[in-house]
Amino acid sequence: NVYPTQKEAVKHVAHRIAGLIRSKQEVGGQTVLGLATGVTPIGVYQELVRLHKEEGLSFKNVITFNLDEYYPMQPDAAQSYVTFMNENLFNHIDIDQSKVHIPNGTLDKDAVAAFCMDYERKIEDLGGLDLQILGIGRTGHIGFNEPGSAPNSGTRLVTLDDLTRSDASRDFGGKENVPTKAITMGIGTIFKAREIILMAWSQRKASIIKKAVEGEISSDVPATYLQLSDNVEFVLDAGAASDL
Ligand code: GLP
Repeated sequence: NVYPTQKEAVKHVAHRIAGLIRSKQEVGGQTVLGLATGVTPIGVYQELVRLHKEEGLSFKNVITFNLDEYYPMQPDAAQSYVTFMNENLFNHIDIDQSKVHIPNGTLDKDAVAAFCMDYERKIEDLGGLDLQILGIGRTGHIGFNEPGSAPNSGTRLVTLDDLTRSDASRDFGGKENVPTKAITMGIGTIFKAREIILMAWSQRKASIIKKAVEGEISSDVPATYLQLSDNVEFVLDAGAASDL
């Protein structure tokens, strides 16, 4: 789905999310959303905040699970995905904090595996993710599933790719400060979502989008696994689609 501009693409995604929340609310249900970080979803979060403030969209019946978090990471650190989500979305809407889930970057190493299993179980107990939104890293990662990730992988501790750490270096004031690891939902976890929307904006993402959409399915570019699902929509602006 290619839009001339990022603004139009962002509106499409935000309105899909809002429509889902409202339709579930009408029948007294909850919406289970999988959320992403990075620059890509910021516009979507801004539009959701606007819909909350100006059009009464309520998040009281929304439960969220974020894709990933750096490890180790303190939640109150400027670079944490907890801070990111609070600043870009949660502080501005009426979501119940107890319904927000973000992988815990503060655990001891030997507690991580149990935490990850519990994260998966919580999603399953709620009936699974209704919708997962994704960005894409220049390595082709989704969440922090770097090249080499297995299609059936679950939530786990991973080692970040060198390019991913370079791309994050500005946020951390130097690559040497970027954590080498992260906790991420797996490809298998993402695949269980009933709907998946991958977003990409600008020419900067054009070559990885070409690989993800048209390339051979391979663990070298984890986003190519999305070609195997019928529930995936790629939402692109003209720049990101320019190599297709
Ligand atoms: C990080 C996140 C990914 C995100 C990617 C792209 O690595 N863990 O979920 O998709 O960055 O980031 P951006 O949207 O800033 O280009």
